[in-house]
Amino acid sequence: MQLSHAQNRRAFHAALLEWYAQNGRLGLPWRNLHDDAQRAYKVYVSEIMLQQTQVQVVVPYFARFIARFESLQELASAQQEEVLRQWQGLGYYTRARNMHKAAQLCGASLPQSMDALLRLPGIGRYTAGAILCFGFAQPVSFVDANIRRVLARLFALPNPRASELEEKAQMLLNREDSFAHNQALLDIGAAVCLPKNPACSACPLLRFCKGASAWERYPEPKRKTTECKHIALAFVRRGDCVALVQSRERLYHGLYNLPEIPPQAAENRLCFGSFKHSYTRYRLDVSVCAHDGKGLAGDVVFVPIAKLDSIPLSSLCRKALGFVLPKA
Ligand code: ADE
Ligand code: SF4
Repeated sequence: MQLSHAQNRRAFHAALLEWYAQNGRLGLPWRNLHDDAQRAYKVYVSEIMLQQTQVQVVVPYFARFIARFESLQELASAQQEEVLRQWQGLGYYTRARNMHKAAQLCGASLPQSMDALLRLPGIGRYTAGAILCFGFAQPVSFVDANIRRVLARLFALPNPRASELEEKAQMLLNREDSFAHNQALLDIGAAVCLPKNPACSACPLLRFCKGASAWERYPEPKRKTTECKHIALAFVRRGDCVALVQSRERLYHGLYNLPEIPPQAAENRLCFGSFKHSYTRYRLDVSVCAHDGKGLAGDVVFVPIAKLDSIPLSSLCRKALGFVLPKA
């Protein structure tokens, strides 16, 4: 069904709101603030918390936070340390610092326009839209990760740009009840249109959905660009010691590895064996070769085998040593 036709859009609105009235998370505290003088502030706090934290974790934090800082002014006049203490356990503390700064920039209340909200630290398009809609009852649309997935499937868009999705969201918006419309889209994304197995047969949007029959293509899964690489490691033994090098690479920094040798140099050596190892975006094919220790690159140190357990070894190195050393 073409959602660009006004009539179909009305049917879509009705189906979404009916579903929401029966199945939506109507009891969430930040959805029941209609007569609250601090509504926009509380919506702001909830949306910042919800950016990176799950709903059930946010609920008790939200209650404690607004009991402690009842208004934007109270938040602004608090010590940063106290704000961070109330945030403890939620993680991503930049969110709390930004909110504290924003409160100090605002004065009496949050601005009621998109542009002014976007100028505040920590507020992007999504959060600004949510504050305008849920906090100030403006007919504004927005797209978060859940809504993105729902829209990409509804319109069968494999690789939509953010601006394209924002246009779709705006075209679809129910201006009579943007609050319930947007909360409903969030709930559909969280409970029905799931990333791995969407419950299309239970979805109120099924008859409007262009992508349902091939939902896994919308949006196109981010291709993990894995690269295969063959590497060779040298096993050099001197008495009770083995040669190791300390890595200066960012990801492995400080960890010890077996010295690496060029793969060609491994070809005519005795090879103890090879194994596969995944490391960030690489699929490594690793051979471990006997080596006399001459001409190795890097600062080689000889470490007693008995001490290997007490120094930081990369997991690659542990695996490789497992091939050549008898189990302790
Ligand atoms: N995630 C982001 N905003 C939300 C909201 N208002 N309700 C539930 N989950 C959300
Ligand atoms: Fe998502 Fe399926 Fe509903 Fe389409 S019909 S919005 S793919 S759950």
